[in-house]
Order: sequence, then structure tokens, then C-alpha cells
Amino acid sequence: MDFELKTLTRSRVCTEKCDALVVLVPLHVAEGDDTLSVLVEAATQSGDFERKPGKLLQAYRTTGIAATRVILVGVGEGSAKNIRTAVAAAMGTLKGGNAQRVVLSLSLLKDAGAAHMQAAVLACSDASYSYSATKSKVSPVKLQRIVVAVASAADAKAGFEKAVGLVKGIALAKEWGNRPANHATPVMLAGAARELAKLPRIKVEILGPKEVAKLGMGSFMAVARGSEEPLRFIVLRYDGGLKADAPVVLVGKGITFDTGGISIKPSSEMDEMKFDMCGAASVLGAFRALGELQPKLNVIGLIPSCENMPDGKAIKPGDVVTSMSGQTIEILNTDAEGRLVLCDALTYAERFKPRAVVDIATLTGACVVALGAVRSGLFSSDDALAQSLLNAGERSLDLCWRMPLDDDYADGLKSNFADVANVAGRAGGSVTAAKFLQRFAGKFAWAHLDIAGTAWKSGAAKGSTGRPVALLVEYLLAQAAQPAKTPLLVKAKTAAKTAIKAPAKTRVKTVRA
Ligand code: BES
Ligand code: MN
Ligand code: ZN
Repeated sequence: MDFELKTLTRSRVCTEKCDALVVLVPLHVAEGDDTLSVLVEAATQSGDFERKPGKLLQAYRTTGIAATRVILVGVGEGSAKNIRTAVAAAMGTLKGGNAQRVVLSLSLLKDAGAAHMQAAVLACSDASYSYSATKSKVSPVKLQRIVVAVASAADAKAGFEKAVGLVKGIALAKEWGNRPANHATPVMLAGAARELAKLPRIKVEILGPKEVAKLGMGSFMAVARGSEEPLRFIVLRYDGGLKADAPVVLVGKGITFDTGGISIKPSSEMDEMKFDMCGAASVLGAFRALGELQPKLNVIGLIPSCENMPDGKAIKPGDVVTSMSGQTIEILNTDAEGRLVLCDALTYAERFKPRAVVDIATLTGACVVALGAVRSGLFSSDDALAQSLLNAGERSLDLCWRMPLDDDYADGLKSNFADVANVAGRAGGSVTAAKFLQRFAGKFAWAHLDIAGTAWKSGAAKGSTGRPVALLVEYLLAQAAQPAKTPLLVKAKTAAKTAIKAPAKTRVKTVRA
């Protein structure tokens, strides 16, 4: 689907030919004598149309309006959130219909800033997404073009372009999230990362079992042992900043299927564990958006990817493994595998001397209990980083909520047989998981997003949401706007070499996806 931005005043909206015209109507609209204003006023006066967010009124072949179908939709006070609700409702009525060209008019809004534009474009794309990768009969998507009409396209251009770039990232994250595990193996995810490397300033390096063994990622390898699918460790880089600029590192959990391993999960709804790579998908999505938007900063994406399966070779409860950091881990529950793959990726992140590391993971059922599907769990040892992520979440309507990290929460992770156990008790499960990760994130500013409740929807609307790509990209763009930090200000030249490249002695060969 293509988006186009156009300057269309109210009266010009009336003469714009299209299959459907969606008009966002706020509570207060300045009076006008054009057909649209008269229609909106009459519909409101008669009581047939309410301007509350998401309320609809449809008209067909209306005199004085060139569009075949007109959909009036209320946006209340016109906040970004209300715009999202309204566009979702209006576009929902067009889904599966014949409309090919739709005009989405923001021309009646008094305040249509970048956040409003983004809310409209994202909701539009979200409502018209349709999964087809593994269906035999695919009805072609009719909706081809959305024309976003505003009072002044020049003013709205930057916000529009950002939103359109973001939409591509979100769509990619959704697509990979939704693919079943046999159509989204670690090797296939690595293939998706390779595709991204075709975009400007993006490079990729793929490590396989041999390279990962050489790095000493004993914890990650332990999870992969039970599966026939070979693991992949994906290293993406986006070089938009100066060589010496310390990068932001994103780490995405890429468990392409989580059976629980020997600590096997109950079978009901186990299919949803194909979504256990949504953290990885959000990193791919963020890179897709970076490739479009080309901000001036350096970003590294790390994706440890494998399946968690029970098998003769699988790890067993009580097994002790040695992580890349040297810390030994007693695996008391093989279903707490996310933290086992992430901890080695966090250690790997050290080599980039990052300005910040953010990991994104469908990590705990406990986070779903704590926060539901509205906000992702945010854990951070760094107040400034936490605040930046919270702000990015609010601005992009992709919300998160800060959770505690008191050291007392780590008490349950003590082990009689290793440096640390991979699980504590049931209580505070999302926090104890974060406390485990924190042990591996001591050398940089770190944040962890638990997206177990937000990355996908269950039930009739089962499917990936593409979250938290919007939050991540919003955060990254804000970072790009800030003065870059160099890891070694004095020795800028040395920093240039070490900031984004692995030290020569630990560099390993890469394998084909
Ligand atoms: N991928 C799951 C977390 C999950 C479960 C996300 C349900 C969304 C819905 C993770 O690997 C897991 O199994 N976590 C365990 C941890 C426990 C064994 C300490 C959990 O949450 O039950
Ligand atoms: Mn698990
Ligand atoms: Zn998992």
C-alpha cells in the first residue's frame, strides 16, 4: 500500500475523486460553506453523527462530493490517541471491500502535528494489514493508495515521511512475528536480516553454531541443543553516525518456537509460542525503519535465535552451563530460556562500547499478568535511559511502564551449584527475570523491555502487533537529535576503530544464512 501526502483544503477535498473519503471530524470545526462542512454540520445537528472518537456515519454518492463513498468519523478533542481510534474504526469498514484509492482527510483538524499524522498513518496501515504468507488462496488486496489530505502539505511533510518509514518497519515486524515456526526458523530470520542489508548504511554478519561456540556462548548454545534447527546469531549494524560515535545496541529475543524444552509447556495455546521471536522481529523492524529514515546515529542489532525443544540432547533441569561472561548458570527450568540466550548477547554487546543497550523480549508470562496488553514492562538500571524510553513510548503511543529492580528481588536466583540460577520463585517473575539479565549488563547503560503482553494478540484477532517498533524508532530518532557521545573522547582515532568493530582476535568468520 502506498501513502501520498496532498494539500487539500476542505472544498478541494470535496472535488477529489476516490473510492472512499474518510473525514476526521473533531468536536469543534470552524464553520464553512463548502459541501463537506455543510454535510458534517447537518449530520451532527440531526443527531445521526456524533463526533466522539470512532463514531461513524457513511454516505454513498453524495451530491457535491466526488468520492463514491464518504465516511465521517469523530475524533473528539483530536488527540493522537483519538485519531488512532477513529482511523481504525473507519478503515475497518473498508477492509475486504472494493476501495482502491482512499483519501484520508485531516483537513478539518485544527492541530495536525507530527504525532497526529503518525497516529493516522500507523492506524491506517494497521487496519489494512492482511496476513497471507502461508495461505493458498490469497484474495488480492484491493486497497492500493491512501492519500493523506492536510491543509498544508509543506508543514506536514516531515511527520508524514517519518510515519511512512515507520509503517514499513512495523509491517516487517508483524510479518515475521506472524509466520509459523516452520516458516520462520533461525536460518530464515537470518535471511530476513540479509535482505535488510540491501538498504543503505545497513550491514549484516551472521554467526552459526561453530562461531558461537568459539565465542564461548555456552548459555545460548545450551538452549539450542534440543533442536534440529541450527542456531543463528545475527549482527546488524546501521552506520548513520560518525565512526567514533558510540552506538545504541538493540538485542532481540529470537526464540522461533518455545515448547518450554524438558520443562515442557501445557499444549493449550502453545501455538502462540511461535511469537517468541517478536523481540527479534522488532529489531528487524527497527532496522527496516532506519534504512528508510536514515537518521544520523549508529545502531547495532543483535539477535540470538534458536528453538527451545525437548530432545535427547536437550538441556535438563539442574544442568549447569557457562555463559560467555564466565558466570555459570544452573538451569532449574528449561522454559526460562529467553534470559539464557539474551545473557550471552548482552555480553557480546560489550565490545561495541555502546552508549546504551536495550533488549526486547517476550520474556515472562508474569509480565502479562502485571501489565496486560496495554504497556510493555520497562526495566532499567539507568534513569536517563528509562526516561527516554518512557517518553518515546508516550510520543509514539507505544506505551511502556517502569518496573522495579531492587536487589532484594535477586535473592531467589541463588544457586547451590552455580553462580546463579535461571529462575527464582513464582512471585515477581518479570522482575526476577530482569534481575537475572542485569547481571550481564553491568558495563553499559541498559534497559529491558518485556513485551510478552504487547507483542501479539490472542483470540479471534490473533496476530502480531508490530510493537514495540514505534517506541524503539521514536527513541532512536530522539538519540540521533542529541549530540553524539564518543566512547574515548581523547583518543578519537582509536575509538573509531573499536567503537563498532569487534577486536581482531575475537572476530569470527560468518556463515551463510
Ligand atoms: N516465552 C515465554 C514467556 C511467555 C509466556 C510469553 C506466555 C507470553 C506468554 C518464556 O520463555 C517463558 O516460558 N517464561 C516462563 C518463565 C518461568 C519458567 C520462570 C514463564 O513466564 O512462565
Ligand atoms: Mn520459555
Ligand atoms: Zn520463551
